[in-house]
Amino acid sequence: MGSYDFDRVIDRRTTESVKWDSSVLQSLVGRSDVIPMWVADMDFLSPPQVISALTDRVAHGIFGYPSAQAVEKSITAFSQWAAQRHGWEIPDRQIICSPGMITTLSLLITLTTEPGEGIIVQSPTYRPFGSIITAHGRKLVENRMLYDRESGTYTLDLIELEAQLARDENRLMIFCSPHNPAGRVWTVDELARVQQLCDRHDVLIISDEIHADLTYPAVTHTPFASLAHEGARAPVTCMAPSKTFNIAGEHISFTVIPDPELRAAYRDLLKKLSIATPGVLAMTAAEAAYQHGGPWLDELLVYLQRNLDIIEGFLKERLPMLQLVRPQASFIAFIDCTALLRKLPEASSLGEFFGDQAQVALHDGLWFGSSAEGFVRMNFAMPACVIEQSLEQIAAAVEQLLQVTP
Ligand SMILES: Cc1ncc(COP(=O)(O)O)c(C=O)c1O
Repeated sequence: MGSYDFDRVIDRRTTESVKWDSSVLQSLVGRSDVIPMWVADMDFLSPPQVISALTDRVAHGIFGYPSAQAVEKSITAFSQWAAQRHGWEIPDRQIICSPGMITTLSLLITLTTEPGEGIIVQSPTYRPFGSIITAHGRKLVENRMLYDRESGTYTLDLIELEAQLARDENRLMIFCSPHNPAGRVWTVDELARVQQLCDRHDVLIISDEIHADLTYPAVTHTPFASLAHEGARAPVTCMAPSKTFNIAGEHISFTVIPDPELRAAYRDLLKKLSIATPGVLAMTAAEAAYQHGGPWLDELLVYLQRNLDIIEGFLKERLPMLQLVRPQASFIAFIDCTALLRKLPEASSLGEFFGDQAQVALHDGLWFGSSAEGFVRMNFAMPACVIEQSLEQIAAAVEQLLQVTP
């Protein structure tokens, strides 16, 4: 065992966690006595330094309005982290301490597009992207990724992308890097080609890099905005400590906006809505995480890859009809269950099958768009013994199904 105990099973049912909530699980997969492997937060303790910073702050007992200096300190902690972890030197003036990422994206959509205009996303896609795009009266434009079933990998469809960028009504692209749910960490070459196309058609890129810190050591995440660009506006980058250090409920992120006009407009909007200063505890957690969480994160990544090895090995040996789309970052993995879907009775979904028959709550691929029918997404940020248990339950359910429908 390393310095941190990721094997420890911790009861979250008493903490009003959405992932473990009985009624949510009931409506998601039809029963509540399931192992919840859906929404993207982890069943691990945050780094001990985050817990002790919060404990110390809570012990003080007064939680009045934080000063501008508190916000500045969080920004400095983030920019130092970006430099050390990603080799990305960002001028502090370009960084804005923001609410959660989806709130931030929502605000940026209103500032950079008009109702009726199109926003491109690479699909299958994290569903809230589509929800906020349509909620603001914009059009969701799906740039479907290419899936190679043989290797279980997704790549970009740059030909379709160029045609979509060329249409005048498409003004913005929300690019997910690393990609959820495809698990891809984009190469410099891929990013450069996307950048070139967007520059050519003057389409702004907002790069959602919430999963960037969770990139596995064998690959390198390149912040989109760290590349040279020729267009009028450099990409906007959204990063956050939320997935990385398991503090998603604190709703804090960092937005890097190189364009001074857009930056000023975004700052104004935060002020108008009176959401320019995050909560005291959110900033305390973010600062401690960025300053002290590196060694914990390194061990977490080893643990997550070991969980992936367990899943991959199990599927190969016991469930060869299911194929893991092995991610290059984070703790969520797509599993190609197309062959299994064909065996299910008409009108029943994979999500329901795994929920009802295996007592495991997975996100049905359809949640990510119609191109992901036949897939499920598994959150594997859980102790290895729980992963093993879930795989046994899945195998038993599939074996039983195959006895009825060989
Ligand atoms: C790509 C991506 N962006 C944004 C979010 C949500 O961010 P937040 O909770 O800060 O709104 C998630 C959560 O899973 C995500 O996967």
